[in-house]
Amino acid sequence: MSDGIIKLLKPDDAEVFKKIRLEALRSEPAAFASRSEDWEVLSLDEWRNRLIEMPVFVAFQDDEPVAIMGLMWQKPSKMAHRATLIMVYVRASLRGTGLALELLEQVTKHADAHGIRQIELAVSAENPAARRFYEREGFVEIGRIPGAFLQDGVEVDEIMMSRRIGSWETRHVSEHWTQPNRR
Ligand SMILES: CC(C)(COP(=O)(O)OP(=O)(O)OC[C@H]1O[C@@H](n2cnc3c(N)ncnc32)[C@H](O)[C@@H]1OP(=O)(O)O)[C@@H](O)C(=O)NCCC(=O)NCCS
Repeated sequence: MSDGIIKLLKPDDAEVFKKIRLEALRSEPAAFASRSEDWEVLSLDEWRNRLIEMPVFVAFQDDEPVAIMGLMWQKPSKMAHRATLIMVYVRASLRGTGLALELLEQVTKHADAHGIRQIELAVSAENPAARRFYEREGFVEIGRIPGAFLQDGVEVDEIMMSRRIGSWETRHVSEHWTQPNRR
């Protein structure tokens, strides 16, 4: 892609965050665990606090936010090498351009620089474009939660995926993972 830029938002960018996050929730209601109503009620301070708690990357074109990805850190110290990719969204007119990958690369670089060894995510089983994108970029399915989302009264499964990053990419998660019967 692109003529645009990708920026790690600062707390002062709460209005930008609100704009692109609400666009995502309103235009792709089936793709996210939250409903737009859940976020519409937040005060600007709450939007700002989220930017303090987690890194949020936004792509801009002509100063307008057009895509977003965030990372949620795991808090317990024994899990602090893991993070969850959240809020993934590219405006429909910019899909298939490579922008999603550019954002993912920025997020991954940031995670690697903060000691993260693996990035995890959850995606609706009925979201083939997102599943294909994640698979193409090296995420592997590690589980499935049946009936995880309630979408207009219909239960939809959720696929859990994971990817090792940086120098941890080629190392095994654990011997038990590949040899479950070994003592
Ligand atoms: C998920 C998302 C960010 C990916 O961005 P993108 O620009 O579409 O990604 P790419 O074009 O690089 O990759 C998508 C892949 O899915 C494929 N694809 C697109 N629509 C598809 C469909 N209906 N069925 C199967 N594959 C599909 C594309 O061909 C491409 O695969 P390829 O590179 O092998 O050809 C974007 O689709 C999006 O914002 N979707 C709406 C929000 C969303 O679903 N977020 C994910 C929440 S977990």
